[in-house]
Amino acid sequence: MKKQFVLCIAVLSGMAGFGQALQQAGINPFAYKIEKKLIAHKGAVASAHPLASLVGAAILKQGGNAFDAAIATQLALAVVYPNAGNLGGGGFLVGQLSNGKQLAIDYREKAPAAAHKDLYIESNGQANTEKSQLGHLAAGVPGTVAGLFASYPYAKLSFDKLINPAIELATNGFCITAAEARGLNAIQNDLKKYNTQAPVFLKEQGWKEGDTLRQPQLAATLKRITEKGKAGFYEGETAQLIVEEMRRGNGIISLEDLKNYKAVSRTPHRFAYKDVVIVSMPMPSSGGLLLNQMMKIVEDKNLKSMGFHSLASVQLMTEVMRRAYADRAEYMGDADFYPVPVRELVTPGYIKMRMKDYNPEKATDSKQVHPGKPLPKESDETTHLSVMDGQGNAVAVTTTLNNSYGSRTVIGGAGFFINDEMDDFSVRPGVPNMYGALGGEANSIQPGKRMLSSMTPTIVTKNGKPYIVVGTPGGTTIPNQVFQTLINLLEFDLSAEDAVYKPKFHHQWLPDELVTEKGFPEEIKMSLKTMGYQLARERNSIGRTELIRVLQDGKLEVIADRRGDDSVAGF
Ligand code: DON
Repeated sequence: MKKQFVLCIAVLSGMAGFGQALQQAGINPFAYKIEKKLIAHKGAVASAHPLASLVGAAILKQGGNAFDAAIATQLALAVVYPNAGNLGGGGFLVGQLSNGKQLAIDYREKAPAAAHKDLYIESNGQANTEKSQLGHLAAGVPGTVAGLFASYPYAKLSFDKLINPAIELATNGFCITAAEARGLNAIQNDLKKYNTQAPVFLKEQGWKEGDTLRQPQLAATLKRITEKGKAGFYEGETAQLIVEEMRRGNGIISLEDLKNYKAVSRTPHRFAYKDVVIVSMPMPSSGGLLLNQMMKIVEDKNLKSMGFHSLASVQLMTEVMRRAYADRAEYMGDADFYPVPVRELVTPGYIKMRMKDYNPEKATDSKQVHPGKPLPKESDETTHLSVMDGQGNAVAVTTTLNNSYGSRTVIGGAGFFINDEMDDFSVRPGVPNMYGALGGEANSIQPGKRMLSSMTPTIVTKNGKPYIVVGTPGGTTIPNQVFQTLINLLEFDLSAEDAVYKPKFHHQWLPDELVTEKGFPEEIKMSLKTMGYQLARERNSIGRTELIRVLQDGKLEVIADRRGDDSVAGF
C-alpha cells in the first residue's frame, strides 16, 4: 500500500532453486518488496526485514498462530538480518494468548561463570570498553535458541516447518538490500580485527545492493537445531565450535555456561493507564518499569490539551524521562541478583513526589536530580517484531546482539555473530556504556547474572483483548520511544503511521542533554534552548518501531518503521 521497492532481479530461473518451503510460500528471496503499511484481516507480522515478515505471514497462513510466526520470523531474521537478528544474542518475548493469559519469556544473555566485577578493568585501573564492546570477551552466554524453545509450547506447527525457511535462506542465499550492504561494508575492518577465521561477511571488493549472501555454516547450525532441538545449539558440535572460538580469541564462555543456560518465564510488568492495561517486560529489562513510571507521571497531566510536539508537552516528557532514567541508573538490574524496588518505584506517592522539583519554565539540572528515595514497601542494533493472528494471540519480541553485528566476532564453523551484551552491564560505576548509560551495584557484573536491558516489547490491552503490539530497537532510547509512540496514540490521537514516523526525542538523565531526531521542529528546539536545555547533535534516526493496532472493526492496522528496510506482511 505504501512505497514498494523491488530490490533485486531474480538471479535464478524459476523458484525451484530457492527451496521447498519458500517456494510453497511464494517467497522469492531474490526479488522482494518493502511494504510499510497493511490492513490485515486475519494475521500480520511487522519486522525489520521483508523476507522475515513474509516468512512469518506464510506460517500464519499455513495455520500457525502468532507464536509460530514469531519463532519463524526470528529464525529468518537470524539469516537475512545479521545486523541484529541472531542465534548468538538474546531477547524478550511478551505475549498474550487467546485465552487471555499473559506471559513474558526472558532469554537475555548471562555473564559467563568466569566473569567478575572487574572483568573490563585493566591493571592500570582503567575500564577497557573496547573489550566489553568488541570481540570475544564482550560476549554473554547467548539466550535466543533457548528462548525460541521456551515459546514453542505455545505454538502449533512442527518446529521443522518454522525453521525450514531460515535453513533455505541460509543455504541458497538471498539478495541483500542497500542498507545491509552499507552495514556490512562499515564493519569490514572490525571483521578482520575481531575474527580468528574469515567469516562469510568479509568481502574484499565490498558489498552492494543485490549481492547474494549465502551462509552454509549457519545453515548447518540451523540443521543441528532442527535435529537436536535446544541441545543442537547448547551442546554437541555447535557448543564445541563456540567454545573453540572463545579459546582462539580469549573469550570466556565455557561448555558448562552453554549447557546451563535457561530461558526464564517471568510475570510480565503490568499496569493500568486510563482505559487500557499495558503489559511489558520486567527485569532484567528496565523497559516495563520505566514505561510504567513515565506513563503514570503523565497520566493526570492532560498532555492532550498541550498538543503533540508542543513546547509544553515535549518539555514535560523530557523532565519525566530525566527522572525515570536517574532511577534506572541506581536501582535497576537483574532482580535475581539485586533487590530492585520495582513496586516502590511506581507507588502513587512516589510518582507524585518524583515531579516535586519540576519547573515548566525551565530545564532541571541533572546534577540536582538524584535517583528517588522510594519509601519502604507501601504494599507491595536490536530488532523488534510485532505479530498478531486471527485467534486473538499477540506477540511482541525484541531481540538483540547489542551493537550492530554484536561483537563483530563470528563463531568459526557455526556462522553466526556472537553478541557484545556484556557492555550492557555497568563495567564500573561512573563509566558509561555504549549508550552513555551509567549504573552501579544493581547492574554490576556477577557470574550468571543478566545484564540490564532497555528492550520494551509491549502489548496494550483494552477490555482484556490485545489492542496495540509495539516495540523497537535503539538501546537506552527504547523505553522513551515506546513511551512516545503510546502517548502519540493514546493522548495525541495521531494516526498509527504518524505515531511511528514522526520524529522522536530522548533524554536519559546523564549525559544531561536532549537528543532529537532529524525533522524535529526547529522552533521547539530553540525555545527549549532558551529554557536551559542542552541539545545534543541531532540524530538521523531513532529506532525502528513495528506497530500493530486493532481497529474498531477488528482488522489489524500494521505499520513498519520508515527508518529502515522494515516491512509488513499479512492477509
Ligand atoms: O538490551 C538493550 O537494551 C540493548 N542491548 C539494546 C541494543 C539496541 O537496541 C541496539 N539497537 N540499536
